[in-house]
Amino acid sequence: MTRRPILAANWKMHKRRAEAESFARDLVKRLGSDSATSLRSQDVEVVIAPPFPWLGAVSAQLAGSAIGCAAQNVHPEPQGAFTGEVSPAMLVDAGCRYAIVGHSERRALFGETDAFIARKVAALQRADLTPILCVGETLSEREAGQTEAVLARQLEGSLAELDVSQAARLVLAYEPVWAIGTGRTATPEIAQQAHAFLRERLTARLGSVAGAIRIQYGGSVKPDNVSVLMAEPDIDGALVGGASLEAASFATIVRYQEKPK
Ligand code: PGA
Repeated sequence: MTRRPILAANWKMHKRRAEAESFARDLVKRLGSDSATSLRSQDVEVVIAPPFPWLGAVSAQLAGSAIGCAAQNVHPEPQGAFTGEVSPAMLVDAGCRYAIVGHSERRALFGETDAFIARKVAALQRADLTPILCVGETLSEREAGQTEAVLARQLEGSLAELDVSQAARLVLAYEPVWAIGTGRTATPEIAQQAHAFLRERLTARLGSVAGAIRIQYGGSVKPDNVSVLMAEPDIDGALVGGASLEAASFATIVRYQEKPK
């Protein structure tokens, strides 16, 4: 089954408003003035995840292009007394089409559990937003030989409330925690092994639709390592942090197919 590659920029807590807007303008220009056509001809999907306050401003800059806007988080409830939180419908109003959920920083620094993440996945589906669900093991878990157990537990837990009829639209991101922001990328072999394992689990849970689900790799993806990673059969995209902060660098990553493998 062919899966359309999806490359996403996760800015985390970076960029003031003017920087966010000029990045978006610059990226649209770099990916072709008619970026819808240009991206389609490369057949990749491109997404930027700015901080919450800039979602509207960035979406406005991306209007008319094929580049999508993602939130970095969401709250599962539609509304209510949840100070500081943002609902799926609010993301839709801000021009978002995707939201990242379960990022390891949210799990580790903000105590998010698989059960809470599962509610977010379902809430995004109900709002017609595409969830980008992150899973990944820490270095000590890998060294203890627990990688597959951790991935299986996170996957199962985070998909506990999945609307199976919309499963094909789900995007998964394998992000080994030891590779995030460390410059220590997983080798293509290590990443492929984890991706193949995740796809196997998805197949066990969902059947043949698992073949349509894109699995991104994340963790120190750079312009010079993206093509070897993307050459692996179960790596269908990248979730890029540090190397997504400059438009030139992220545009090079998006155009990985133009580089010799
Ligand atoms: P990195 O971050 O590319 O800076 O390693 C990836 C991520 O956390 O999504």
